[in-house]
Amino acid sequence: MQTTYYQHLKDEQATCLFGEKLIKLINQIDISHGFVVYLNGDLGAGKTTLSRGMIQGLGHQGNVKSPTYTLVEEYHIANKHIYHFDLYRLNDPEELEFMGIRDYFTTNSICLIEWAEKGEGILNSPDLFINISYDNTARNIELVSNSLLGTEIINQLP
Ligand SMILES: Nc1ncnc2c1ncn2[C@@H]1O[C@H](COP(=O)(O)OP(=O)(O)OP(=O)(O)O)[C@@H](O)[C@H]1O
Ligand SMILES: [Mg+2]
Repeated sequence: MQTTYYQHLKDEQATCLFGEKLIKLINQIDISHGFVVYLNGDLGAGKTTLSRGMIQGLGHQGNVKSPTYTLVEEYHIANKHIYHFDLYRLNDPEELEFMGIRDYFTTNSICLIEWAEKGEGILNSPDLFINISYDNTARNIELVSNSLLGTEIINQLP
């Protein structure tokens, strides 16, 4: 069954804090088969900001740079592997095969994927869809589960 969750995020800090909360929930479940999140939203909606909150929420101390040019940035923290993708500049989904995309969807890995539609047909399907939209100068976030694990996460949100 699909579950959805909806919240208003009044500023950048609220987006980061939401990311921290979310990663802590993901860190508590069994992700031995990996966990995949698609981050949808217009340019500048806050996909990278949310990812930064998640990555730092897992304990990463340094910067989180946007993987705009590198396609993927990786973080290895607390026995987990976060792979943060930005596929905006991907020309062809086939390029993901050359990157060895299968190796990223592994045990204890969390894949955060911006512009996942660019990798359609090659990427694993997500556990969660996250949609961020503009609400004047603030944002709204919507989570939609796409697996039992995704539902388990949403059910734990307040
Ligand atoms: N809840 C919020 N309210 C207002 N501004 C926010 C909120 N969350 C993030 N922002 C701001 O919106 C911008 C989001 O930029 P960010 O790089 O995260 O977007 P993005 O969705 O990753 O864009 P792109 O598609 O270019 O990768 C930043 O300037 C950030 O400060
Ligand atoms: Mg981004």
